[in-house]
Amino acid sequence: MSPVPTWYQTAVFYELYVRAFQDSNGDGNGDLRGAIQRLDHLADLGVTCLWLLPTFPSPLVDDGYDIADYFGVHADYGTVEDFRALVEAAHARGMRVIADLVMNHTSDQHPWFQASRRREAPYDDYYVWSDTDQKYEDARIIFLDTEPSNWTWDKVRGQYFWHRFYRQQPDLNFDNPAVQQAMFDIARFWMGLGLDGFRADAVPYLIEREGTNCENLPETHAYLKQLRAFMDAEYPEAILLCEANQWPEDVRPYFGGDPDDPTVLGDEFHMGFHFPVMPRLYMALKRGDRTPVVEIMGRTPSIPVNCQWCMFLRNHDELTLEMVTEEERHWMWREYAPEARMRLNLGIRRRLAPLLDNDRRKIELLNSLLFTLPGSPIIYYGDEIGMGDDIWLHDRNGVRTPMQWDGSANAGFSDADSLYAPVISDEVFGYQRVNVVAQKADPASLYHTLRRFIAAYKSQPALALGDLRFLDHPDPALLAFERSYEGKTVLCLHNLGEHDVRVAVPDGQDMLADAPVSAGEVSLPAYGYRWLIQ
Ligand code: GLC
Repeated sequence: MSPVPTWYQTAVFYELYVRAFQDSNGDGNGDLRGAIQRLDHLADLGVTCLWLLPTFPSPLVDDGYDIADYFGVHADYGTVEDFRALVEAAHARGMRVIADLVMNHTSDQHPWFQASRRREAPYDDYYVWSDTDQKYEDARIIFLDTEPSNWTWDKVRGQYFWHRFYRQQPDLNFDNPAVQQAMFDIARFWMGLGLDGFRADAVPYLIEREGTNCENLPETHAYLKQLRAFMDAEYPEAILLCEANQWPEDVRPYFGGDPDDPTVLGDEFHMGFHFPVMPRLYMALKRGDRTPVVEIMGRTPSIPVNCQWCMFLRNHDELTLEMVTEEERHWMWREYAPEARMRLNLGIRRRLAPLLDNDRRKIELLNSLLFTLPGSPIIYYGDEIGMGDDIWLHDRNGVRTPMQWDGSANAGFSDADSLYAPVISDEVFGYQRVNVVAQKADPASLYHTLRRFIAAYKSQPALALGDLRFLDHPDPALLAFERSYEGKTVLCLHNLGEHDVRVAVPDGQDMLADAPVSAGEVSLPAYGYRWLIQ
């Protein structure tokens, strides 16, 4: 008997980048007060949980994932009280809020690191120091385009420090019980502001051991289980969402429980991103062949009944190609990132709509998969209106441009003369054409399509909670599967090809057209999709 589904298992997430959302004080940066002004847009869309990107004081080398003070808010974004007000305002509209918990590293400007480099107690041992840069050589480098090594020399201390990301982000030493405890104190502080949980950043790398690749180590899992136990004891309704960009079998342990028995409750993370399925959605679409998606889902282990995957099409980072083969990566780059500037590290710095040639049919098709494959959907801000990108901006900033609210100056985002990043204003994706006001006024817009998806998704628990069964079909372009839950089955049909596909269906109801369908053959046009409930 499965437990009663909990809120996160049926949630619709929205990834909100505060800096890009709304500037309330005319300084060119989005801020927490501005985000509050725009919450009605998200409630209207049907979102049930916001995920806030980091808003901590930070030198912004890694856009806030380099934290200089865990107990504050960056002056550009507001104050801790504004943060509390945003959480309360979201709650008042029936939306929950989770925020990033960045455990693995701090900024090199964090007072802990400054004290550690001077060997000051008790911070002496807060980071991973070494006399040699020859340790942990089996650990890969993640920010390949920028960092030649995971070690950087610190002349103040006269030792190397370990960092899995930018050199300005020294890794905390999770073998130190004081660091372990400090993270609980940080979690408690933010939970005290009313949060509903955390998206835990970069968790595979917490602990290092010689002779391993320093990812997913048992010691890391042991600490994360302690974090979960702490959260369960103090905040039983809250969730932990795991960011582990790993193969499905390596993500499975992050849910905890018993790998052979999904009825045993998970005791580590409530949720985990399904990274490997994401590039395969693009791959399957471009090839007109369902195989990559069917294979990766077939390779996805079952998870405990109280857990849920998180599905996404794009996020604030490059479209990562770490979880594909080398050959597939080169193929993806050729197909989706033909210009060198579109590539970054092992990925692609483009948004959803430009990746899909701004072809409305393909954008809808991938969104349909986002809502019908297992896992809670996450919409990346701006993708609900098909925003574009600017590949010429530094790092991943090209997919973090100001939200396009209307056709007025600065897209209605800000009154300032100069913005933290330019608004997109090209002919195809410019705010003059692509904006919330225009799409709300047009019942045929992408915004309204997504709104219908969300309403249909919420109306039918099988889409969130149902078992998955793929159906066979002679045409590889047809990606057809059933989601079944408590006697209801939704048949989801997707045509990945550019030719019509005919498929036999039983009597049912078309959930999106809200019309009956009689048994017989239906024809799916190029990139067509149907959700049929029986
Ligand atoms: C995660 C974040 C990414 C950040 C990195 C280091 O992967 O999504 O934006 O750069 O962690 O904190």
